Amino acid sequence: MAKLVPSTIRHSLQSSVAFLIAVFVIAVIYFAWKNGGLYDTSTSKWSADQNYSSESCNLFSGKWVFDNESYPLYREEECTFVYDENACQMFGRKDLNYQHWRWQPHRCNLKRFNATVLLERLRNKRMVFVGDSLIRGQWLSMVCLVNNFIPPALKSMHYSFNNSLITLKAQEYNVSIEFYWSPLLVESNSDDPWNHRFPDPIVRAQTIYKHARHWTDADILIFGTYLWWIGPSKSMNTLWGSFESGNGIFKRVGMLRSYEMALKTWSDWLEIHIDRNKSQLFFMSMSPTHKWAEEWGKSNNGNCYDEQEMIEEEGYRGNGTDPRMMRIVEDTIDELKRRGLQVKLMNITQLSEYRKDGHPSIYRKQLRALTEEQLAKPTSYSDCIHWWLPGVPDVWNELLYAHIFS
Ligand SMILES: *[C@@H]1O[C@H](CO)[C@@H](O)[C@H](O)[C@H]1NC(C)=O
Ligand SMILES: *[C@@H]1O[C@H](CO)[C@@H](O)[C@H](O)[C@H]1NC(C)=O
Ligand SMILES: *[C@@H]1O[C@H](CO)[C@@H](O)[C@H](O)[C@H]1NC(C)=O
Ligand SMILES: *[C@@H]1O[C@H](CO)[C@@H](O)[C@H](O)[C@H]1NC(C)=O
Ligand SMILES: *[C@@H]1O[C@H](CO)[C@@H](O)[C@H](O)[C@H]1NC(C)=O
Ligand SMILES: *[C@@H]1O[C@H](CO)[C@@H](O)[C@H](O)[C@H]1NC(C)=O
Ligand SMILES: *[C@@H]1O[C@H](CO)[C@@H](O)[C@H](O)[C@H]1NC(C)=O
Ligand SMILES: *[C@@H]1O[C@H](CO)[C@@H](O)[C@H](O)[C@H]1NC(C)=O
Repeated sequence: MAKLVPSTIRHSLQSSVAFLIAVFVIAVIYFAWKNGGLYDTSTSKWSADQNYSSESCNLFSGKWVFDNESYPLYREEECTFVYDENACQMFGRKDLNYQHWRWQPHRCNLKRFNATVLLERLRNKRMVFVGDSLIRGQWLSMVCLVNNFIPPALKSMHYSFNNSLITLKAQEYNVSIEFYWSPLLVESNSDDPWNHRFPDPIVRAQTIYKHARHWTDADILIFGTYLWWIGPSKSMNTLWGSFESGNGIFKRVGMLRSYEMALKTWSDWLEIHIDRNKSQLFFMSMSPTHKWAEEWGKSNNGNCYDEQEMIEEEGYRGNGTDPRMMRIVEDTIDELKRRGLQVKLMNITQLSEYRKDGHPSIYRKQLRALTEEQLAKPTSYSDCIHWWLPGVPDVWNELLYAHIFS
């Protein structure tokens, strides 16, 4: 047979084709990566990569995107449980843009929160949030997220153990979604949820039994403690011995050291008492505050009061979040992992840092009557610590949801 094409040309043709194919493949991979997704032929669109738990995707690294179609996930007035420190509309906030932000991770999409799916997953189970008022806000957000999906006659709220434990029970599913108040995780003289000292409490950094016995058998546990440790004095009244016996030893211990001691007590407890085959464990990283407007370039002695926009600067960190405390949490969790117990660190610090618009500021119930002096200066009584609902804690829970199913 005659050769139609000389072999040298054929070879170069073959290699050109191979080259073009290689370029095409690389381009497809590049665009898929750029778009954080895959090309969906059924819709002819770049669809979200649903593999949210893949190694390449850090759900905590991303940006806020305005989305008034899907957000808020519920309405404040529908969630009758909302507490005074989290309800803003009720106390007169007019600009409601803060409710319309979706968290968009850089490389993938967040799984859509589906209350029915969560309730089904939690059937016959207990989910317990343990910690301070920030964690209570997150618990409340979770309650609001599932609230519309439980018929009124089939749910109830219970207070037990001197109100330390609040339980939402959904009878149909036999699900309990609970919050346990222990602002320092370990024992302290601030364990009464309605009547406690802040700042400058006394902590028993080596004792946790009184609290832990109420949550050890839970199926999903979410912990968090931070703000109570960072008082102005940078140290903590620490007690060895008991409050009752009167012969304990008091000492002021540096903030970092006492935090480390408390987390050690907490992790030792978990290691011994948690059923690894049953419980899923999470630790919420520190929740940032926005108490000094100087930090985002204003020079008016202001704070989060009247802030309606978020901070744009990627990677912004305020000085209210202490990276050394984050490292102690990481080290504690790493050590637990070496001892065979997994706790997932929910790194919500960075994404919350941007949201100076998300605090209640003056739109909350005031615990004490305000003086005229205060009224004249709203920044003086602005709450720049807690978050309003619907809002930032809903996203913490969407992230939690993604990890519960991963
Ligand atoms: C995503 O996960 C599915 C099922 O596990 C798998 O078939 C697919 O290849 C994964 N896609 C990517 C981009 O990893
Ligand atoms: C938390 O997430 C931010 C943003 O992705 C990242 O810069 C930071 O290193 C993370 N911290 C930890 C302890 O994982
Ligand atoms: C969403 O916001 C856009 C731009 O601000 C506005 O035009 C639109 O009417 C809003 N949609 C809803 C449902 O509020
Ligand atoms: C939630 O999940 C249920 C059960 O899988 C499904 O029927 C429902 O459509 C989902 N809801 C949304 C809003 O995706
Ligand atoms: C209901 O849930 C609890 C855990 O909250 C569990 O101990 C109990 O066995 C469940 N009841 C039934 C009937 O499954
Ligand atoms: C409730 O508080 C009282 C007074 O502080 C205490 O005596 C009692 O033991 C507490 N009860 C429980 C269940 O913790
Ligand atoms: C946990 O599960 C493993 C494997 O199924 C089993 O070998 C082990 O005994 C279980 N541990 C406990 C404490 O139930
Ligand atoms: C943070 O910075 C502000 C002003 O720049 C300062 O007033 C405040 O004391 C600082 N806070 C901490 C915890 O360092």
